[in-house]
Amino acid sequence: MDTSPMTPFTTPFLPWPKKQHYQEIPEDGNLERYQEALSKDLDYIFSHTNYEESLAGNLPLPDLLKDPETGIAITEPSQWPALRQKHLANLERILYGALPPLPQKQQVEVLQEKEVFQGTALLRLLRLTLENQGKIHQATLLCYIPRRPYPVPAIIALNFQGNHACTQDPDVPVSPWPQLAANPRGAQANRWDFRLLCDAGCAVITCAYYDFYPDHVLGRPQSVYQLFHAPQELTPKNREFTAISAWAYGYSRLRETAAALPEIDPAQLWAHGHSRLGKTALWTIAHDDQWAGAISNCSGCGGAALSRRNYGEALECVDHVLSWWTTGNCRPYAEHPETLPFDQHTLLAMAAPRPVLVTSAKEDQWADPMGQFLAVREAQKAYRFLGKPGLPSSEYPPLGTLLMSPCQGYYERYGIHDVTNEDWQNTLRFIHQSR
Ligand code: GCU
Repeated sequence: MDTSPMTPFTTPFLPWPKKQHYQEIPEDGNLERYQEALSKDLDYIFSHTNYEESLAGNLPLPDLLKDPETGIAITEPSQWPALRQKHLANLERILYGALPPLPQKQQVEVLQEKEVFQGTALLRLLRLTLENQGKIHQATLLCYIPRRPYPVPAIIALNFQGNHACTQDPDVPVSPWPQLAANPRGAQANRWDFRLLCDAGCAVITCAYYDFYPDHVLGRPQSVYQLFHAPQELTPKNREFTAISAWAYGYSRLRETAAALPEIDPAQLWAHGHSRLGKTALWTIAHDDQWAGAISNCSGCGGAALSRRNYGEALECVDHVLSWWTTGNCRPYAEHPETLPFDQHTLLAMAAPRPVLVTSAKEDQWADPMGQFLAVREAQKAYRFLGKPGLPSSEYPPLGTLLMSPCQGYYERYGIHDVTNEDWQNTLRFIHQSR
C-alpha cells in the first residue's frame, strides 16, 4: 500500500477565480439586493470553474504529523493529542470559527409519540429548549426509533427543509420558519429512508438546520448565537459567528438529547450530514469526542474535498458567496489555498481513531470526488499512526464500490448531489462493520 505523502507539485493548474469582481457584504440588510448581486458573482465563478483533472494541480499537502509552526514531526501516539489541538485551533481560527458555549439550562419535552411502520417503530417529537440569561432558543426534533431489543444505535442528522418535508406523515408539524414552511410536506421524503433505517435497527433523529442558524447572510440574529450576543454583534460582518459552527453546536445538542433517551445507545451516535451539513458533520465530531463516528455525504469544498486542488468549487466561492458559513480570516487563504497550514485531510484526521465514511457522486463534480478521496487517503496517516487501519487500498475505487475498513470508508456512486437509498445502504454497512 502506498503510504508516501502526495508527490510534489509538478502539474500546471489554472489559477483560482479572482476576487476583485465580487460584491461586498451589504450594510443595509437588504437580502434580495445582496442575493441578486451574488448571483452575478456566482455566474462569474461558475464560468471560471475547472473540471479538467489534468489542470487540477497536485500541490503538496501539509504533513499531518508535523507541527504546523515548527515543522517538527511527532514520533509517538502519546504526542498526537497536543498536535491535534494545534490543527484544531487552526481550523477554528481560519475556517469554521468557535462553537458557542453551553447554555445555562437545557430542557427536553415530549410533544407527541405514536407507533409507526405497523408498530415496529415509534415516532416521537421532542422540543429542545436552550436557555441563557433569560433568553431562550428552541428546536423541534423528529425521532424514529425502532422497537428492538434496546439500546439501538442512532443516526443524527440535521435537515434542510423542515421536519415536515422529511416525511409524508400528517402529524409532523410544519416548520415555524416561513422559508421552510413554504416547502410541501414530504418534499424531501425521498432523502429520508426512515423505514429502511428502523428495519435495520437504527434510530434516526433529525431537526431543521434553520433551528440553529437560518441559512442566509442575515441569519445571525435569529441563530443560536442570539443566546449569547446582542443583535448589534450579529451583523453580516461578524463572521466569527459562523453557520457551520452553529449547526455543529446543534448536532451536539441533538447528540446529548439522544444519549438521554432510554432506547438509544449513547456510545453509538453517528453524525450524518449531506453537502453543507456533510461539512458540518465532520466539524462536529472534530469538536465533540462523544460521537461514535461520522458520515459525510457529498460534502465537497470546506468538507472532505482538498482546497489545494483547483477542481470544482473553490474555497473562494464558499468564502465569498456563502460568507456566513466561514470566518472572515478565511479570505487571504481562499485566494491562496497553498498557504493554508492545513487542508481538508486535517479535518478528517481530527476524527481519528473514530470511523468516518466519505461519499461522493459522479454527477457532483462541483464537490470534487477525487479531491475527497485524496483527502481520505492522506488522513490514513493519522489512523495508522494511532495503530488503526486506513483504507484497504490506495487506488480510487470503481464507481459504486464501497471501499472500507472499520475506520475509514469512501465511495463514489452514480447519480447526482443527493442522499439516496444506496447512500443509506452503504451507511448502514459502514456503521455495522465499524461497531
Ligand atoms: C452549494 C455550495 C456547496 C454546498 C452545497 C450544498 O453548492 O457551493 O459548498 O455543499 O451548496 O450544501 O448543497
